[in-house]
Amino acid sequence: MERLQKAIAASGYTSRRKAEDLIRQGRVKVNGEVISELGFKVKKGDLIMVDDKMLEGENKVYYLFYKPKGCICSLSDELGRETVIDYFEDVKERIYPVGRLDYDTTGVLLMTNDGEFANLMMHPSSHLEKVYEVTIDGLINGETLHRLEKGIYLEGAKTLPCKIKVTGKDMEHKTTMLMIKLVEGKNRQVKKMFESVGFRVKRLHRVQVGFINVKGLTPGKYRLLKPQEVKDLRTLALEKKELNKRRK
Ligand code: URA
Repeated sequence: MERLQKAIAASGYTSRRKAEDLIRQGRVKVNGEVISELGFKVKKGDLIMVDDKMLEGENKVYYLFYKPKGCICSLSDELGRETVIDYFEDVKERIYPVGRLDYDTTGVLLMTNDGEFANLMMHPSSHLEKVYEVTIDGLINGETLHRLEKGIYLEGAKTLPCKIKVTGKDMEHKTTMLMIKLVEGKNRQVKKMFESVGFRVKRLHRVQVGFINVKGLTPGKYRLLKPQEVKDLRTLALEKKELNKRRK
């Protein structure tokens, strides 16, 4: 935790004294909210904006995190639960998660302080592929899977076509293991899709985002993305975005 004016000065934007003036003038936002009090403390992951522009100055960093179970994808939690940021104590940049995985979901999560990159990855028209391993309670039939693949209505909007493959069945415990490949990321989408056809998701693991997977990492560990990986993710998302524009 550090004082807001100190964080602004540390980014190289201006001196601490001038940062105090900016705060008093109501020109500084933290996580979207105007902060005009000088004692305000910011923590790692908080988004600081001056005149509605993200503070530049910090190096842009990109991490791949193997999200474990039992932590939430936000920067703080009023219930005091562990957050993904707690795993990045050694990282000084104000990173945040690109999108969300549920408390009990594991697997690939990108973390960055680059707002433009995060927006591009999350933008619905980028259609970045996400692959999940799913275990559901019950034995599901081909026809139901086909309905899910074609797209179903969730809260009034139709899901985009997706691919689902059954990878195993446990007849004794009556569970089915599947792989699902989605090109969108609505809130709790996988769970809602299966719930809508009467199946509860017991386990959810994100195997891949684009071409990025957690091979070589264990739950709770992270690594920096290679510059080429960041470049290729950007290119992939931009190409898909362009393709979608032309299709419309
Ligand atoms: N879909 C879900 O339901 N939960 C996740 O965490 C990710 C995708």
